[in-house]
Amino acid sequence: MREAGLDAAYADHGLGVYPMTAAGSAFSADMIQSTGNPVADLYEDMAAEQKAKATYEYLLDLIDDPDAADPIKFLREREVVHFQRFGEALRCVEERLENKHMFYGK
Ligand SMILES: [Fe+2]
Repeated sequence: MREAGLDAAYADHGLGVYPMTAAGSAFSADMIQSTGNPVADLYEDMAAEQKAKATYEYLLDLIDDPDAADPIKFLREREVVHFQRFGEALRCVEERLENKHMFYGK
């Protein structure tokens, strides 16, 4: 933990899960982007998936160990699938809005 620069995090949280950015900013509810508008929220979800994919690509730039890189490559590909699924959901919502079956006007 010390060699990885995680000694302070270990001292505060042990081996417990404590979500934070690579720069050490702790996760908070302020990071949740939700408007209640399904179109806006789905676009936000899609952007989040692309951001996660970009983060995995940056991590891969920093990693030489294939035992560490392979799981990150797998997770990166999952973000692509998540992006595609949110896109499908967005198309469904937009179709429903156009048919005036649900939600509220444009
Ligand atoms: Fe994802």
